[in-house]
Amino acid sequence: MSSELSPIDKAKFVAAKRASTYVKDGMRVGLGSGSTAAWLVRCLGERIRDEGLRITGVPTSTRTAVLARDVGVPIISLDEAKWLDLSIDGADEYDANLNLIKGGGGSLLQEKIVATASDQMIVIADAAKQVESLGAYPLPLEIIPFGWQTTNALIEETLIGLDVLGRNTTLRMNGDVPFITDEGNYIVDLHLNRIGNARQLSLVLNQIPGVVENGLFIDICDVVVIGHGDGKVELRDINNGTVEEDRIFFAESDNLFTDLAD
Ligand code: A5P
Repeated sequence: MSSELSPIDKAKFVAAKRASTYVKDGMRVGLGSGSTAAWLVRCLGERIRDEGLRITGVPTSTRTAVLARDVGVPIISLDEAKWLDLSIDGADEYDANLNLIKGGGGSLLQEKIVATASDQMIVIADAAKQVESLGAYPLPLEIIPFGWQTTNALIEETLIGLDVLGRNTTLRMNGDVPFITDEGNYIVDLHLNRIGNARQLSLVLNQIPGVVENGLFIDICDVVVIGHGDGKVELRDINNGTVEEDRIFFAESDNLFTDLAD
């Protein structure tokens, strides 16, 4: 492996590499977004080249679609696929029940639609993403640009009655202009510090007019594959209640590291 990879990148890579072995011939696979999911897409591209694996991917962002094409993973839209065997994606936080915060990269809407349309969702992450209770990572909300300040005021008002520690909200920016999602919407990040009741919060936030979706993934994730910088991988399956350990060995000469995009 390239000596330029940090321990966190190595952890993300081994999680992605191990999770790629869940993908079997003929599967329709949801391809997540973010740096960990990018490793997964590269690993799948490698399996397609080396093993002749036949799959179709449904990307959760334009960025992932570009990468999938680059590394030779055939892609189709969710409308073409209709339903998926498996989705594999990163996360910003996961708790012991495998509830998640996602959307740090701004793709939470497509990610949630794709994950929900899958028989199984696997999250790939490094151990630093594990938390006792969700909320230290700002919770992203995708909102409609029309009247966004009114929507934001309603969000702040709604938070007053909810079991959270912080109530600041910020509009996500891209330099001097609002960040725009693939669906043409804005993102508001909620700085909650600790979420007492994630299920209730998710339901309540989605009732506010102008809110399209929030980044809480409740009862969606089935398995988390946790990577460590030394190649150790932990696999936690919430349905079976099992925890397994594995180890991924990688070579300095691995083709995947020769032309890194991010
Ligand atoms: C993208 O919108 C997110 O949900 C990502 O899956 C999440 O931010 C994790 O990203 P990294 O894998 O880059 O940490």
